[in-house]
Amino acid sequence: MIPRKCIDIGIRELAAGMMYCCLPGNGAREHARIESSWDKRASLACLSVRSGFDALLAALALPPGSEVLMSAVNIADMVRIVQAHGLVAVPVDVDMRRLEVTVSQLARAATPRTRAVLVAHLFGSRMPMRGIIEFCRKNNYLLIEDAAQAHTGDAWRGTPEADASLFSFGPVKPSTALGGAVLAFRDAALCERVRDHMARWPLQTRADYALRVIKYAALAPCANRWMFGALALLCRWCGTTHDGMVSGAARGFTRGEFYRLIRRRPGAPLLRLLRMRIAQGVSAGTELRARHSRRLQALLGECCVGSAAVQHAHWLFPITHVDPEGLVRRLVARGFDATQQASTLAVIQPPPGAAPAAEASRAFAQLVYLPAHEGMRIGEVERMAAAVAAFVPRFRSAARPSPA
Ligand SMILES: Cc1ncc(COP(=O)(O)O)c(C=O)c1O
Repeated sequence: MIPRKCIDIGIRELAAGMMYCCLPGNGAREHARIESSWDKRASLACLSVRSGFDALLAALALPPGSEVLMSAVNIADMVRIVQAHGLVAVPVDVDMRRLEVTVSQLARAATPRTRAVLVAHLFGSRMPMRGIIEFCRKNNYLLIEDAAQAHTGDAWRGTPEADASLFSFGPVKPSTALGGAVLAFRDAALCERVRDHMARWPLQTRADYALRVIKYAALAPCANRWMFGALALLCRWCGTTHDGMVSGAARGFTRGEFYRLIRRRPGAPLLRLLRMRIAQGVSAGTELRARHSRRLQALLGECCVGSAAVQHAHWLFPITHVDPEGLVRRLVARGFDATQQASTLAVIQPPPGAAPAAEASRAFAQLVYLPAHEGMRIGEVERMAAAVAAFVPRFRSAARPSPA
């Protein structure tokens, strides 16, 4: 079976990660090197985007009850962090064809309590920011750009006018360091406040990072399609499915210990691997994945989420379908590990009195993530597209997300 995703790390990087766990040092030099080379803006290396975002909100200390306008699709943890700081997350609907939030949607959701805007670039796309920047400037809102899914290894370092841009190097991201994040700030003083807040947190231990490297080294053989197929078969024999197990294995922080785990500083081994991955630039795998995805999009048309996105590197490849469960079953039976659970992204629920994100909710109810990655051959991509098209012959018009 062709697995849903390849983890973008090789033996060389895993071996380097292990070796870094044996070297002395507290990471101060690595911090300085990463941060001086990232961006013209002030920047800060963190354990994860969630850690950096948590520290950013603590440093900002916005009045309780302040509202943060959030593009309506994000991982649940980002909402949880907003709420933990006494703030209210207000979803703003996303145009699922363009993967953008528009100024008119932001303006509709704003109230006198609005203080900040958090927009997330989704699935490997990058939305145009000009209008959003002007809207935030005019209203004096802080603009936070969640680029956790937008880093491809290229030279893009975020939107210079954003107050903060957040980049993730978590385990399933391109050029992963099996963790780590970089935050870039327009205001150097804010960056220092976030750094000061994080300085109170304990340091990630070498043992913790070593276990992480071992875990992903042990999972690496599962990227092999025969091994993955055998695993799926074994799960079926045991009366379960591989779907939940695979999604769970990729998850970084366990639920119960969430704040204890995110409120740590990155250790020296992680920072060393992070520096190595940033320096490596765009991987061959990322380029091949983008090529396969463009072919898939050309074959499937408008049912592809983000089919009209201005810029798209296709980190994930979701489509919408009128029968998502049926399509997943059909594709799995044909050897393609399609899933409804490739990420922990969800649609943010509105607070009382705010409007729900109708378009994002509609699309998410029909979402299927297709495997489209560097571990596939182009012929397999085309065969999968044919299987999708054959499942419901007229799905193109039926599955098209309708405009808000
Ligand atoms: C949109 C988005 N925001 C934030 C995060 C959190 O990133 P991290 O795992 O570095 O905390 C993720 C992780 O997948 C994400 O997809």
